[in-house]
Amino acid sequence: MEKFYITTPIYYPSNKLTLGNCYTTVICDAVARFNRKQGKEVFFLTGTDEHGQKISQAAAKQGKSEIEYLDEIIADTKNLWELLGITYDKFIRTTDDYHVAAVQKIFKMLYDKGYIYKGHYKGLYCTPCEAFWTESQLVNGKCPDCGREVSAGEEEAYFFKLSAFTDKLSKLYKDNPEFLQPQTRVNEMVNNFLKPGLDDLCVTRTSVKWGVPVDFDPKHTIYVWIDALSNYLTAIGYLSDNEENFKKYWPANVHIIGKEIVRFHAIIWPAILMALDLPLPKKVFGHGWMLFGGDKLSKSKTVGTVECIDPRILVPEYSADAVRYILLREIPFGSDGNYTTEIFLSRFNSDLSNNYGNLISRTFSMLKKYFGSIVPEVKEDNLEASGTLKQVVASERANVFKYMENFDVSKSLISIFNIFSQANKYIEQTEPWAVSKDPAREQELKNIMRNLLEAIRVGSELLEAFLPSCSGKVLEALGCNAQHFGSDDFYGLEEGSEVKPVGILFPRLDITAELDKLSKLN
Ligand code: MSP
Repeated sequence: MEKFYITTPIYYPSNKLTLGNCYTTVICDAVARFNRKQGKEVFFLTGTDEHGQKISQAAAKQGKSEIEYLDEIIADTKNLWELLGITYDKFIRTTDDYHVAAVQKIFKMLYDKGYIYKGHYKGLYCTPCEAFWTESQLVNGKCPDCGREVSAGEEEAYFFKLSAFTDKLSKLYKDNPEFLQPQTRVNEMVNNFLKPGLDDLCVTRTSVKWGVPVDFDPKHTIYVWIDALSNYLTAIGYLSDNEENFKKYWPANVHIIGKEIVRFHAIIWPAILMALDLPLPKKVFGHGWMLFGGDKLSKSKTVGTVECIDPRILVPEYSADAVRYILLREIPFGSDGNYTTEIFLSRFNSDLSNNYGNLISRTFSMLKKYFGSIVPEVKEDNLEASGTLKQVVASERANVFKYMENFDVSKSLISIFNIFSQANKYIEQTEPWAVSKDPAREQELKNIMRNLLEAIRVGSELLEAFLPSCSGKVLEALGCNAQHFGSDDFYGLEEGSEVKPVGILFPRLDITAELDKLSKLN
């Protein structure tokens, strides 16, 4: 069976994970579900990145131990993933014993191979971002990522010979332009980092206590990014007593990450893997951001907002599917996209309620009225509109498979909703209510209803990876099983079977009233 290993970044523990933070995880979930439906053996990894100075500072501020502080937040993060229907196979915490032990072994291996050496670090460190910078990388003397003050310091430290990988990484990008997507990110890596040549990377701190100690020199703790990136290996058992999953799943098919952490995944990570003599992940995909009033609401910056961006409020009000939809649909994959509560509510109405929801309710109620909810037989269907509908279904279905090869969830959803739009158009073109008046046209009416049901079936099967709850209900009502997914036959329903009612999937919203309600809940 084909294997598929997909990862999210491991999240910095924050009990204020907002919609933006959910973006990476929801994309990965849709991709994982889609690949499972294709019959692949999927391993979907997520987790939390729990070391570093700012965790200690935050815990101390609340008068808690680090682990007490972390346990509460991790529970909230896991609840959030459950709320959004995230089907991860493993949740790794970098404080897990097996991870700590394996990171120490990785560090030792790199040291033994001569890729890590001891020296002195003199430089500038941004504590909120846990990142070292050189003078030339600063923007207006501040951290280029978060715009905060950096502090100067000097200390004994270990270094990773990143400079030894400039040529190998340049070759990687030349020989394998698909490794990092989208292409704009490759240009960024090559022009900003590889062309000027890489500097060695400081990979330990003596001043940071909350971290993985270097076992052969315990006053040093391992740089959080080395610790964090290693999770992709340690989670599947690398250097543990049981390497079965590592052997089965490595190399990963894709690391999906936000664009601000591409440098770590597309320069440092492949260099570490090369140093360990391990194969590289097949792809790193750096997605864009969901912007709120032009801002990312990133981990280090907080901007006041009147928009409702809390999934803990939005999911109970509008469903997990609606929240997944806005994330997956509104951001052109690879680019940034804007969010406002109004955009969210409008999409809910136009796409979920008026297009998909309305198609289901019209079709199901006509089927009930004309054929007692029984799937009719199709015969001698030579309507031009039927041909067009079948053509659109086939080509959009093929598009979805093509787009999902490149993890393009947004284009996939556009294609799926084109199927539903075409089916709605088919109703207008064929006017079943008029056909039903003429008993001589009964077979034509059967054909129309059957074609509508099949278009709904194909679209819902495709949609299930993205919006699992509503499409799952529709598929269940249609009596579908998963086997159809791989087949491109237009006719897949069982003739004579009964279609069950589904109720209203997405009740149409009064946007002004909802905005008012949300502003009070927010
Ligand atoms: N801990 C590191 C990752 C280590 S991986 C070895 C980290 N964590 S994070 O919590 O700050 O970010 C997790 C993910 O959330 C990233 O992919 C990041 O891009 C994503 N997002 C956070 N805010 C976002 C938006 N507003 N929009 C889209 N994604 C954003 O970085």
